[in-house]
Amino acid sequence: MKMSCLPKCRLTKLLAWLQIILGGLVVVVSLSSLFVFYSAGFLIHREDICRHIYGVKEVIPEGFDVRALSDRVDEILDKLDSLQEKLESKVQQMERNKDVLSKLNVTMLEYKKYLEDEVIKPLYSVHIGLRQIRLPKVEGDRANATLKEDPLINNFIIEEIRKYITPKENRVKKVNIYGSDRVYNTIGHACVRYKKELEEYMEYDIGSYCKDDWDLAQKLMIKGCDPLPRRRCLTRASKVYQKPFPINESLWRVPDDRNIRWARYVCRNMKCLSSSNTKRGYSKCTGCFEMEKEKLKWVTNSSVPVDFLIKDVLAFKPGEIRIGLDFGVGTGTFAARMREQNVTIISTALNLGAPFNEVIALRGLIPLYITLNQRLPFFDNTMDLIHTTGFLDGWIDLLLMDFILFDWDRVLRPGGLLWIDRFFCSRKDLDDYMYMFLQFRYKKHKWSISPKSSDEVYLSAVLEKPPRAI
Ligand SMILES: *[C@@H]1O[C@H](CO)[C@@H](O)[C@H](O)[C@H]1NC(C)=O
Ligand SMILES: *[C@@H]1O[C@H](CO)[C@@H](O)[C@H](O)[C@H]1NC(C)=O
Ligand SMILES: *[C@@H]1O[C@H](CO)[C@@H](O)[C@H](O)[C@H]1NC(C)=O
Ligand SMILES: *[C@@H]1O[C@H](CO)[C@@H](O)[C@H](O)[C@H]1NC(C)=O
Ligand SMILES: *[C@@H]1O[C@H](CO)[C@@H](O)[C@H](O)[C@H]1NC(C)=O
Repeated sequence: MKMSCLPKCRLTKLLAWLQIILGGLVVVVSLSSLFVFYSAGFLIHREDICRHIYGVKEVIPEGFDVRALSDRVDEILDKLDSLQEKLESKVQQMERNKDVLSKLNVTMLEYKKYLEDEVIKPLYSVHIGLRQIRLPKVEGDRANATLKEDPLINNFIIEEIRKYITPKENRVKKVNIYGSDRVYNTIGHACVRYKKELEEYMEYDIGSYCKDDWDLAQKLMIKGCDPLPRRRCLTRASKVYQKPFPINESLWRVPDDRNIRWARYVCRNMKCLSSSNTKRGYSKCTGCFEMEKEKLKWVTNSSVPVDFLIKDVLAFKPGEIRIGLDFGVGTGTFAARMREQNVTIISTALNLGAPFNEVIALRGLIPLYITLNQRLPFFDNTMDLIHTTGFLDGWIDLLLMDFILFDWDRVLRPGGLLWIDRFFCSRKDLDDYMYMFLQFRYKKHKWSISPKSSDEVYLSAVLEKPPRAI
């Protein structure tokens, strides 16, 4: 717009602009109304029309929160309505006071401010609101479609919550430790998706014996229905449970077969879990039920140059490392070695094809039954050490990793150590992951990279959380 415009002409232009904006608004409103109409139609005719037109699978998938979706749409419509009303009444007011207005000087700055505050800002918020609405995306072919979008996503408006609960797909189609193709971060909401399984899980006679269904419970946890509800039934135990070995023996002794309920595993005894048995039922952590192999870890020089020894790591903080967390998969050997150093380590464990929890506990160590889906159950600045191995590697989504590392940072005390042990990824991803670890500006005590295979690399590091004087 040329600045030479006279006051009257300016006003005319302002009015013209308002008309254009209003026209645009009408289009937006009509589109939104259409959209609502469409969703509603979707619902009403979901049984008959959709079945004919799209095939049964393409109705709104079960569990998708249609109410939240329509609430979000309503919010946006309200915003658009009030914006339109405001602008229209402004125009009418101007129309009425034409004479006065023509004598007024509206400066371009005032005009700009008006557009910014009264038109662009509200329009922007409507735009963002529209973009935030997520419809149930269905992926896969028709016969095999699965629900991709989180059903409750539209309940949350804060983008960080939405990012958090959106399932994180593994990178480059890799399978993760749970054998699934994504990780379902949870704030407890995801049980809605597994209504059938949850109902099965909660179906029991109060006070009687539970079904032997820990594997159903674990499946629910991995899928994001976590934490699970408590149950008022009696859990089953091995009929022939023996008292555990004394602690001077239990740390390095394979537990008694009789202390484990084997019904849901491929193997039915400890011997079968050895790495030479290809039908052992688990894939990660091969050999970790063989104590001769386990005894070598972290105390003898290994063939992989990125392996550090416990004594070297503890030497960075003599006497200061007393409690910690081992986030990994295994039978508790790291915790056993640390116990010999008078350090108490809690080992995370899931029973992924083998009785990891039972074995850790029978060795006299503490298993923590937890998935990657949730916040660690520790308070801020409490742990002296977090050690992780065999768990996070090149499959992990970067956003997921970010959430995890920030949580670990929260839990570590200032001066605490983060020991990343044999992290591996493809060579081309190394920079991304290195950035992830380095972003916290921890002090590097050890940092070591070595080739794993022709296109993969290992990374190990011992990093110290700095003081935070804020
Ligand atoms: C509007 O601007 C003209 C000159 O640009 C000036 O003569 C006139 O007094 C101004 N009117 C008001 C109400 O400020
Ligand atoms: C559905 O997917 C499974 C596994 O992904 C596959 O084995 C099966 O053949 C698929 N079924 C159809 C009808 O495509
Ligand atoms: C373990 O300690 C008990 C007594 O606490 C003792 O009788 C037993 O011999 C010890 N076992 C080993 C292998 O030292
Ligand atoms: C392990 O390697 C270090 C140096 O890399 C060496 O000083 C030490 O003696 C070795 N220990 C054993 C048990 O071989
Ligand atoms: C652990 O504690 C015991 C008892 O206080 C002590 O005898 C032992 O020397 C300690 N071990 C180490 C490695 O510090």
